[in-house]
Amino acid sequence: MEIKRVGVVGCGIMGGGITLVCAQSGYQVIASEINDELLSKGLASINSFLSKSVEKGKISQKDKDATLGRIKGTTTTKDFSECDLVIEAATENIDLKKKIFAELDKVCPKHIILATNTSCLSILDVAIVTTRPEKVLGLHFFNPVPIMKPLEIVKTIITSDDTLETGIDFGKSLGKTIVIAKDTPGFIVNRLLFTYLLEAIRMLEAGTATKEDIDAAISLGLNHPMGPLTLADLVGLDTALFVASAIYEEFKDPKYIPPTLLKKMVTAGQLGRKTGKGFYDYK
Ligand code: 3HC
Repeated sequence: MEIKRVGVVGCGIMGGGITLVCAQSGYQVIASEINDELLSKGLASINSFLSKSVEKGKISQKDKDATLGRIKGTTTTKDFSECDLVIEAATENIDLKKKIFAELDKVCPKHIILATNTSCLSILDVAIVTTRPEKVLGLHFFNPVPIMKPLEIVKTIITSDDTLETGIDFGKSLGKTIVIAKDTPGFIVNRLLFTYLLEAIRMLEAGTATKEDIDAAISLGLNHPMGPLTLADLVGLDTALFVASAIYEEFKDPKYIPPTLLKKMVTAGQLGRKTGKGFYDYK
């Protein structure tokens, strides 16, 4: 089926990035938030990213205006009734996601695909609250969405082949490299990433090395763009705690037990870049 209009639920770091990439790829996008304040904040970030791209000479002012012209903000779920595909990128909370999927199922035409950008939750659990579980799949983008190449497409045991094919074609149209994963916690990337991030936090906790040296050793020694503690700050320590806990919950493998330091930092509101403080200070 042809996709012209994409809905994105949530206009935070991930939803805003998905909105931007879809609009830059020529799709009409309806982006939603729970209130006007968060919607304005999300759309302002998109505007600011495009302005910087104009300043750098990467795109023209005309491109920027055309991209923004394809984005419409809303705080009302019923506006998604005009979409050909809806991607949910709300907070990682299974009850919230189930509620969103049940609402989307009511307002969206029965033939359209509903996707979730969840980083670790069961896609099947949200699929079964809809009347079209075979048309539900995971489209897991990476942060920062405009830069990161991969798109993990997650197929449940009841996702139809047609739905998967449409997801693959859509991902390619965004310029992403597609990888396909089963509906298991953490899929491919986060299942591996979190053994590494959590171990780096445990090393810091144990005093094995300073945060700067752990990061420098990895970024230089393994040629990674950033070390694990800087990356954890980028991902968000609340998200990291959530993902690790969700994977542990399913596999009961001790390597996914969140370190005490991670839990304490989240309790203290030190969530990484988004709060101005995590392992590093961003103020
Ligand atoms: N949004 C959009 N573009 C961004 C950006 C952002 N948040 N941050 C940086 N960029 C762009 C910059 O504008 C710059 O573009 P330019 O080349 O046109 O000037 C380019 O990226 C390079 O940026 P910088 O020079 O400022 O800095 P770096 O060279 O260090 O790159 C980085 C920044 C792209 C974030 C790089 O450090 C990187 O790739 N880090 C690893 C990111 C990663 O691993 N992400 C995956 C996280 S896991 C995940 O998302 C899964 C989830 O479920 C938890």
